[in-house]
Amino acid sequence: MVENVAPLMRELEPEDFYLLSGIEQGMRFSEWVAREKLPEFSRLTAENVDYRLDRCEDRGLIERKTIQYQGFKLTFEGYDALALHTLIERETIDAFGSPLGVGKESDVYEVRSYKPFALKFHREGYTNFREVMKEREYTADRDHVSWQYTARKAAEREYDALEGLYPDVSVPRPIDQNRHAIVMERIDGTELSRTKLEPGQVVPILDLVCREVAAAYDEGYVHADMSEYNVFVADDGVTVFDWPQAVPTDHENADELLTRDIENLLGYFKRKYPNDVGEVDTDAVADAIVAGEFDSVAQFTAE
Ligand SMILES: Nc1ncnc2c1ncn2[C@@H]1O[C@H](COP(=O)(O)OP(=O)(O)O)[C@@H](O)[C@H]1O
Ligand SMILES: [Mg+2]
Repeated sequence: MVENVAPLMRELEPEDFYLLSGIEQGMRFSEWVAREKLPEFSRLTAENVDYRLDRCEDRGLIERKTIQYQGFKLTFEGYDALALHTLIERETIDAFGSPLGVGKESDVYEVRSYKPFALKFHREGYTNFREVMKEREYTADRDHVSWQYTARKAAEREYDALEGLYPDVSVPRPIDQNRHAIVMERIDGTELSRTKLEPGQVVPILDLVCREVAAAYDEGYVHADMSEYNVFVADDGVTVFDWPQAVPTDHENADELLTRDIENLLGYFKRKYPNDVGEVDTDAVADAIVAGEFDSVAQFTAE
């Protein structure tokens, strides 16, 4: 379980962050960063490095391992601390709040600024092997692809998708991104999976979600991880979130992924509300979305 690093932020000193970012730099080249490299990477004296290493290790921000040499690496908490520090320095956020949700691959917290935002730390990336190989020079240690790298990639992908989609599609407004963290508008509402819709609401809500999928396609994106867990329902409509796996519509598998997204949604609605949702032709829905002609699932329901 990842500890919330926020309470530590007050105790950390500027030079602790020099050390942490020195280790971060070293991790581009090897999994464990040798102690001798740290004065150079962090621009601190050797004595100060030793002092800061102990402080950061005591706080769970780094890990130590002795093989042929003494090496160090950041923990998730250390990486979280670096991202938070940057976001605070940029004045994107000023206070950390309570957890909003723990997802499959992330931790999401409320953060405060001039209004409440959500901060999502990516914990792992969907590892696109080809993409990693392309940027292999990232690490000299050939087989070493750090979790920092895949988590940062996932955050960048999600942030880019949100920027491309907002405001034409109902997604959280993107605010800022650093390392594996994104800051976005905090959405009020209940996840679709935890909502009990009244009979008269079922098809209208299903239509709203499908229209967002269609609007995203018009903007050039397929979500590729659509499910009842990635949709918020509120009185004023629906919001689709969790976009790190999104692919552009000119991607070779885009239409296949779109069909799978629609299947997931329709499958969920049919299982949960069998009396309200009839047989829908999934392929026809996907075709209509691709053609820009989707309006309602009613068009594709067998009587
Ligand atoms: N913008 C947001 N506003 C409020 N809660 C959010 C927001 N984004 C995510 N959450 C909460 O955090 C949980 C995990 O986020 P999600 O983006 O789905 O990540 P994962 O990839 O881990 O599933 C969600 O199920 C939701 O409850
Ligand atoms: Mg999710």
